[in-house]
Amino acid sequence: MASLNDIRSTFLDYFARNGHTVVDSSPLVPRNDPTLMFTNSGMVQFKNCFTGVEKRDYVRATTSQKCVRAGGKHNDLDNVGYTARHHTFFEMLGNFSFGDYFKTEAIPFAWELLTKDFGIDASRLLTTVYHTDEEAYEMWKKIGVPEDRIIRIATSDNFWQMGPTGPCGPCTEIFYDHGDHIWGGPPGSADEDGDRFIEIWNVVFMQNEQFEDGSMVDLDMQSIDTGMGLERIGALLQGKHDNYDTDLMRALIEASANATDGAPDGEGNVHHRVIADHLRSTSFLIADGVMPSNEGRGYVLRRIMRRAMRHAHLLGAKDPVMHRLVPALVAEMGGHYTELRQAQSLIEETLKLEETRFLTTLDRGLKLLDAELADLPEGAALPGEAAFKLYDTYGFPLDLTQDALREKSREVDTDGFDAAMAEQKAKARAAWSGSGETADATIWFDIAEDKGTTEFLGYDTEKAEGQIVAIVADGARVDCLKEGATGQIIVNQTPFYGESGGQIGDTGVIRTEDGMAVVTDTKKVAGVFIHMVDVREGTITLGSPAKLEVDHARRSAIRANHSATHLLHEALRETLGDHVAQRGSLNAADRLRFDFSHAKALNAEELAKVESDVNAFIRQNTSVETRIMTPDDARAIGAQALFGEKYGDEVRVVSMGRAPTGKGADGDTYSIELCGGTHVAQTGDIGLCVILGDSASSAGVRRIEALTGEAARAYLVEAANRVNEVAGMLKAQPGEVVDRVKALLDERKKMDNELATLRRQLAMSGGAGQGGGAQAKDIGGVPFLAQVLSGVSGRDLPALIDEHKQRLGSGAILLIAEADGKAAVAAGVTKDLTDRVSAVDLVRAATPELGGKGGGGRPDMAQGGGKDATNADAAIKAAEAIIGG
Ligand code: ALA
Repeated sequence: MASLNDIRSTFLDYFARNGHTVVDSSPLVPRNDPTLMFTNSGMVQFKNCFTGVEKRDYVRATTSQKCVRAGGKHNDLDNVGYTARHHTFFEMLGNFSFGDYFKTEAIPFAWELLTKDFGIDASRLLTTVYHTDEEAYEMWKKIGVPEDRIIRIATSDNFWQMGPTGPCGPCTEIFYDHGDHIWGGPPGSADEDGDRFIEIWNVVFMQNEQFEDGSMVDLDMQSIDTGMGLERIGALLQGKHDNYDTDLMRALIEASANATDGAPDGEGNVHHRVIADHLRSTSFLIADGVMPSNEGRGYVLRRIMRRAMRHAHLLGAKDPVMHRLVPALVAEMGGHYTELRQAQSLIEETLKLEETRFLTTLDRGLKLLDAELADLPEGAALPGEAAFKLYDTYGFPLDLTQDALREKSREVDTDGFDAAMAEQKAKARAAWSGSGETADATIWFDIAEDKGTTEFLGYDTEKAEGQIVAIVADGARVDCLKEGATGQIIVNQTPFYGESGGQIGDTGVIRTEDGMAVVTDTKKVAGVFIHMVDVREGTITLGSPAKLEVDHARRSAIRANHSATHLLHEALRETLGDHVAQRGSLNAADRLRFDFSHAKALNAEELAKVESDVNAFIRQNTSVETRIMTPDDARAIGAQALFGEKYGDEVRVVSMGRAPTGKGADGDTYSIELCGGTHVAQTGDIGLCVILGDSASSAGVRRIEALTGEAARAYLVEAANRVNEVAGMLKAQPGEVVDRVKALLDERKKMDNELATLRRQLAMSGGAGQGGGAQAKDIGGVPFLAQVLSGVSGRDLPALIDEHKQRLGSGAILLIAEADGKAAVAAGVTKDLTDRVSAVDLVRAATPELGGKGGGGRPDMAQGGGKDATNADAAIKAAEAIIGG
């Protein structure tokens, strides 16, 4: 019997043989659709190839696409477990032609694969065509399908549309007749909803495009999009009527049975089916970057997880079960979907934490539910208030409560639930308004309440599509922004990171059909991501779909800096001690800055060790891992958290680096931090880290600035160029530069000293400057010697004064020196004369003439200074006037 894995391969091989490129499944979170919650069919990743907007280097493709239908328009969650063919997760096999082949080839391809390669009995197949599609009808006839088995359908069942807008076209569907022992009629008949005739393949002839105003045009190219559920064709080929009886699903059901009550069939069967299905959707969603949360996609994931967990509980499980089933899933599907294997530990850990948390309230919630039901009249709906309490206090998503009530044939008053939810939001808002936060932010809270918070996609992608849900200009909501205007744009989902946690906001471009705006910064308030924009072309209008693209180079640099900051933090702790704690940080595109508690400056060895450790972990090139957990669990594994920061119920934990065994924060993991920022995939992506220096930031807090990646490289190259330049001047090798410069500086010092001595000697010998013969003149009986010296430093003046005093025996001396663009003045008076004239007075009289002020010392020796010695003569005259009295 061919396994589901074999059937998938047969399909892909068949189309590969027929000129198709085998393309990987795209992620479950669509990157190219503004409104789609999850990828729900094979054509999602190709939607722009049909309209011709996107060109790829192939025109024929085949895929096995991961799909989730839970939440949003296609929501099969409620039925899973109770029916034969509902799944939250399934694989869609498809072949695609982008303007290459069309109907006359697509139909024979499908027929040949089904009847030859898969060996399905042709007499059991029947087909449908859109009522006006003669060409498809004729093609089926030509292939040999009897006319009574080609059914014309006039409804939208045979006109496939991706959504309200976009590529679309008539389709032909292939059905399998499971036999008259099963109730049901052929498509189009009154009994078509029965289980006898099952649709197995939909072949869409993409030839039109639908627009929002209701118009539909012919596309320039004619394309093919097909979809066949692997689980359905698998069941058929394995001779089963129920998708859950295929080998793959059966293996998961058995794993569930082994982990719980041991019996795969019988009473527990519904529960095992729910668990098997939900195990697939939750694991694949986690592998594709979705984490449980209370918003958007994360909340859908949480709902699926908790639904599965309740069913495990119904099977009597007291401890977490789901994570124990992951190895079975990886064994079945990890071969084709390697992302599952790579994310195995993340999936296990996420499931375990979620189940551990949920189990703490599940029992109490179920008791409350029973108590509520006991008080209600037979068959009455559960009041919305009670359902809301289960949601709010016990973590029961509404559909989980509904699922629990389904077994008791009861319903929930959903209007009452919605009213209770609205009331709680209003209260939260009122509390916020009273909290004294700035009034400016009110508008963002309004938008959050009215449009919901923004879903952030930027951990996994830098490009995405979104829908513009609000536009703000000058503090008020507006309908559009025109070319030249600035304002703020809010989109339902965005890859742009909003400034927070030290990481700066992203920049980039937002494009709509009618306009283009440059995003100059992104902020985050009340869960709303605010794109600061300058509209450069056309008009940006509320409600339009938009393509968002983050500046890749800038974001890559920011990521590298942020990850390097984590490594730096740990390296500082290792080098300086556990008292090192983060006090602030900046992760910009051009540099990083990290402030941390440490009392003294780092010495050269410490800085060198920190830098060398950071770079060793960069070269180690381990992958950076992200997990979601409770703050307590995060602390238990040694995660570094910001002191005094408030964290919610869940935190994002980023780990990187492999420490020597047992030495890291978490045994072998080097760095573990609570962090909401964006990071490199592998530490090697940081490239290089260069520490620029350490300085004081405030008392007890040091600051390190560093560069990474290209900035670090450029910095080092620039430094090396300078060294080479100096080496060239010195005619030395770069390695000799330091010694040569040291030698030059020593030599220079020696020469300076020699020069000063010579100048002094010259001054004493009376040869230098204006002082000429340096003869003392008599002023009222006081011998006075004044001299202007050039090239003598102020430092040397006192020694010269002493020499003059000795030579004169008795007298007053004034020396003015001019050096390095400044003037220095010194005065000396021999002891016998200090009661008649003070050296201090002489200096104070001289300095104003030299552009200075004051001066000081003792009566026998004083000094002062000024800007220049141009007016030295006037300074000397002023001193003479003091002596002359
Ligand atoms: N896109 C088509 C479908 O999902 C094939 O049915």
